[in-house]
Amino acid sequence: NALTQDELKTLVGQAALAYVVPGEIVGVGTGSTVNKFIEALASMKDRIPGAVSSSVASTERLRALGIPVFDANEVGELAVYIDGADEIDGRGFMVKGGGAALTREKIVAAEARRFVCIADESKLVATLGAFPLPVEVIPMATQRVVRQFAALGGVARVRLKDGVPLVTDNGQHIVDVTGLSLTDPLAFESEVNQWPGVVTVGVFAHQKAQVCLLGTSGGVKTLK
Ligand code: A5P
Repeated sequence: NALTQDELKTLVGQAALAYVVPGEIVGVGTGSTVNKFIEALASMKDRIPGAVSSSVASTERLRALGIPVFDANEVGELAVYIDGADEIDGRGFMVKGGGAALTREKIVAAEARRFVCIADESKLVATLGAFPLPVEVIPMATQRVVRQFAALGGVARVRLKDGVPLVTDNGQHIVDVTGLSLTDPLAFESEVNQWPGVVTVGVFAHQKAQVCLLGTSGGVKTLK
């Protein structure tokens, strides 16, 4: 009786509560796994001042449960940031942005002393790059960025929603890139960050996970 992916997400969402520091504001990511964490966090709401959120969607969920949400500018350094990933490797390097929230996620992650990644075991990979890499781009630069990825051997497409380019919480577009094997995530992140018009590349190598709580059929495995 193997657990479903949804049950694995619930398991790791609850396990992440052990990393929330009482008395401290917690950084909260975005996605279906984080939604399980947010539900679990409601049980701790009297022990924390609140959260800094990485998306409009997470902010709405937090507030609906009575958890105050602070502006990152009011808060500064955080003890911990809890977020999911689209892919994570054994070093804690990740691909993120499947939910289009990568820019705010990277900002909140950068404010945190510790990144705790919560994921079901399908997210663990040997080499990043099978999941289409999300990149947030200023709309006037998307075709230029598409050509730059083509020169690296990748195929980049503008992400659509209801037939038109998806607009992020920051008013920008997303390109998703396939065909890349990210063997050197640190160098790749640095390079793509230099391209004009790129807001954020969905490789999280400079803001990697220090801990990964991986949901498996045998329970939660902690990778450090
Ligand atoms: C959001 O932009 C992403 O970075 C999410 O963290 C990622 O897509 C994981 O989402 P799920 O928990 O829904 O798989």
